[in-house]
Amino acid sequence: MYKPEDHILVIFGGSGDLTRRKLIPAVFQLFINELLPENFAVVGIGRTDYTDDSYREYILEALREFAPNYIEKEKVFTELLFYHSMDPSKSDGYVTLAKKLGEIESDKTIQPNYIFYLATPPSLYEIVPRYLNETGLTDETEGWTRIIIEKPFGTDLESAQMLNEKLKGYLKEEQIYRIDHYLGKETVQNILVTRFSNGIFEPLWNRNFVDHIEITSSENIGVGKRGGYYDNSGALRDMLQNHLLQLVALVAMEPPSQINSETIRNEMLKVFQSFRPLDYDTLEDSVIRGQYMESHVRGEYMESYRSEKGVPEDSRTETYVALKLFVDNWRWGGVPFYIRTGKRLPTKVTEVVIHFKPSPQTLFCQGADGYESANKLVMRIQPDEGILLKFGMKVQGAGYNVQETNMDFHYSDLTDGSIPEAYERLLLDCMQGDSTLYARGDAVEEAWKFVNPVLRKWREDQGFPLHGYPCGTWGPEQADLLIENDGQTWRYPCKNLADDGNYCEL
Ligand code: BG6
Repeated sequence: MYKPEDHILVIFGGSGDLTRRKLIPAVFQLFINELLPENFAVVGIGRTDYTDDSYREYILEALREFAPNYIEKEKVFTELLFYHSMDPSKSDGYVTLAKKLGEIESDKTIQPNYIFYLATPPSLYEIVPRYLNETGLTDETEGWTRIIIEKPFGTDLESAQMLNEKLKGYLKEEQIYRIDHYLGKETVQNILVTRFSNGIFEPLWNRNFVDHIEITSSENIGVGKRGGYYDNSGALRDMLQNHLLQLVALVAMEPPSQINSETIRNEMLKVFQSFRPLDYDTLEDSVIRGQYMESHVRGEYMESYRSEKGVPEDSRTETYVALKLFVDNWRWGGVPFYIRTGKRLPTKVTEVVIHFKPSPQTLFCQGADGYESANKLVMRIQPDEGILLKFGMKVQGAGYNVQETNMDFHYSDLTDGSIPEAYERLLLDCMQGDSTLYARGDAVEEAWKFVNPVLRKWREDQGFPLHGYPCGTWGPEQADLLIENDGQTWRYPCKNLADDGNYCEL
């Protein structure tokens, strides 16, 4: 692995939660693994009044909490850190920022290459690049400039298009890195490798052999302290439009002609372009939304979404969404994709399940577990990362009874080391100028285009059902019907945990 070129990483939102929890620990891990450039610095930017020294102290504390393994190296690492206090929404701070960057460059002999990371509220995604451009910091005559933009990229199709349009005025598309941290997960990238490095899967990976595909991303946590943000977002915008649809694209895409950023992202885009548009008038048949209600989970009381801090008492924001979609192309014509995500479900798990068609003839008696002659390939994205193939095997003894058996691979068996964090991989890729694992502007717009009818329906039709589901259950019962009406069931990686609570209409 070659080291990236010298540069300065500038983090807007340098004193925020994302920086403390994810970004700095990721940069630190790159430092430990000796993957940072020879000459490198990080400049945190925020309104809080830190000096370089007090910022280093602040980051040291964060590292002790989130990366406690290498305490003796933390001090050396923090010498790479600087801080610049400014209000990013006002133009004046940018001139002094440029001056500070110039000083760091000459002190540490760093080339004028920059990554600007926008770990800020989305309202700044247009403003910061504009001011950077006005100050000449996006100019690439002497070095390169890349800008990483956190999600959400827009709140609907129109706002995403507008943001893309404005950014185009300040930056070239190659300079823009739109983050979707799911693409940085090792197991998500492994979907590509599993599909395209094994001769045995790809011939079966189509409508002739696949019955349906199921993607689940469930969390057991609630919205916590993020109620204010979440209530304006909801599960559809927060998880489905980005993370889940990216997973669909990786599962459904055609093999790229080679492994590079443009070919892979072209194939992913084609999947988004092939989504069958959701029908506004019959949306209830393909989209179910829910919101968590109070309940007891293993004896512990869990409050309802509407009682969370920052959430209005009459909120109609969804904390759960399940959706049935079709990819209308030759490979997938007629194969339903069922996708779901939610908070306060029984467990944290993200998995992709390929349900193959059953064998054409039932020759054997089923064992006690009711194996239905249909293989399943489960790609466990997290936790317990791995792959599981379910297949039929003879029950020992007389006769020909068949039972379901697992062929199970766990990443933990492959290596003693831990799987790299998504942000580590993504930051390193950006440092190396590789945007493969970042969402391209056209793909983000296509994903919004697909979910736009749902957003519009929910906004315009107050009668569209919002189902309550008790914390610790697998979401509203109606979501079960979404798949059961087609003669299938969701895979439940664990049982409902709620001790009480009834489902209801909200
Ligand atoms: C974020 C969402 O993008 O992804 C959060 O904003 C969610 O609401 C998180 O909790 C889930 O990420 P992961 O990596 O824990 O599955």
